[in-house]
Amino acid sequence: MSPKSVGIDAMAFHGPECFIDMADLAVARGVEPAKYIKGLGQTAMAVPTPCEDTVSLAIAAGRKALDAFGIDPTQIGTLVVGTETGVDHSKPVATYVHEHLKLSSNCRSFETKHACLGGTAGLTAAVDWIASGRARGRKALVVAADIARYGLNTPGEPTQGAGAVAFVLSENPRLLEVDLDIYGDYTRQVMDFWRPLYSKYAFADGHYSINCYLDALAGSWSDAMGKPGAAAGMPIGNFDACFYHVPFVKMAQKAHHRHWEAELGRAVAKEDTGLMAKINASFEQRVGPWLRLNSEVGNIYTGSLFLALMDYLRQVDAAREGKAISLFAYGSGCGASMLLAKVAQGAAGFGTRLDPQADIDRRRRLDLAEYEAITRAGESVDGNDGPELDPSSWKLGAGVYYRGTRNHMRQYG
Ligand code: HMG
Repeated sequence: MSPKSVGIDAMAFHGPECFIDMADLAVARGVEPAKYIKGLGQTAMAVPTPCEDTVSLAIAAGRKALDAFGIDPTQIGTLVVGTETGVDHSKPVATYVHEHLKLSSNCRSFETKHACLGGTAGLTAAVDWIASGRARGRKALVVAADIARYGLNTPGEPTQGAGAVAFVLSENPRLLEVDLDIYGDYTRQVMDFWRPLYSKYAFADGHYSINCYLDALAGSWSDAMGKPGAAAGMPIGNFDACFYHVPFVKMAQKAHHRHWEAELGRAVAKEDTGLMAKINASFEQRVGPWLRLNSEVGNIYTGSLFLALMDYLRQVDAAREGKAISLFAYGSGCGASMLLAKVAQGAAGFGTRLDPQADIDRRRRLDLAEYEAITRAGESVDGNDGPELDPSSWKLGAGVYYRGTRNHMRQYG
């Protein structure tokens, strides 16, 4: 028999151990700091050293999620890594994560890719696996892990970042129940953001990508509205919080505006001061309070939506248990999904277990010279038989790190 309650049972974030302050970056680029801090909404940006790749970030996040929520690795029957910055054209990041977390040899594992939608695609695949009854009581571990790179001195530079969010899905979850009936999907071939096989850096048609994102939001919203029960379940007024993919914090504000427009069935111009005030108040209540982690980390592609969700879950109190939320995931190229969920009874007791603030506060602040040196060093570390990478060169702590490629095989230690 398929379970009635499926969703997120555990969660953790792991990010790079260094960051650059957005004001420092703005000054170096000859830009008003207010553009990055207010205009984009970013205060800091995580900077991965060459030893911190998608694999090392995913392993650390997965380990934290299992440890913090007391989950035995043998209970995991499915492992999915959602990423658009994998490390091999063929071998999935999931195999490294599987080995390091000592998961069962009977655990199925795979990687999902659709730009930033990959983590949500992993989540829905895992939810369907559990809801179908095939999991037979086992849990799924999904890790959304990425390094967002546009390169030095590019328009995308202030919207970089890196990190991994891991979440465990199960029956009768402790944190969040996913609505199995109301959801919306959207796909359209567009060239808004892409990364050709020969490039470490993404290419983006930045302003066009914002429009593609917003159109995809309206498209997936309208698909969700076609599901039975949606007329009662979908109004924004029902939601305690609304989450969106967050390439930079200001984007969530644009997304909430478009979400309202979809619901109202018409565009709302700035001159419509009455409605603008209502939409802005809704943003302050339902979206703004959960964007601090994103503003300190930057874009983490597949994990960005879940970082905002973690910010909410770390603040959830008993009064929020049972409340409905909405989740919008966007992946350039493009694909999108809108999901609904409900805060699980008892979730308020787990906020401190998933709160990553202490780790974020421990990060080392880079000056511009070191940030640029690290970025340049990252361009050549995937070649074969180069010098061994030493985590102490960048003052990294204890952990599993990428150490270079020997005999065409990536080394971790
Ligand atoms: P830009 O042209 O450098 O910035 O590119 P801008 O001129 O558009 O300014 C940004 C904002 O700052 C504007 O606010 C300005 O008004 C404001 P808005 O009008 O949009 O509300 N501003 C100021 N505010 C206060 N004081 C000031 C000031 N000056 C300006 N002095 C852009 C920005 C995001 C386009 C660029 O960084 C970029 O191309 N980023 C990469 C692409 C991206 O993030 N796209 C987002 C949508 S697509 C997506 O989310 C998918 C993605 O995550 C990838 C995936 O799916 O895998 C990217």
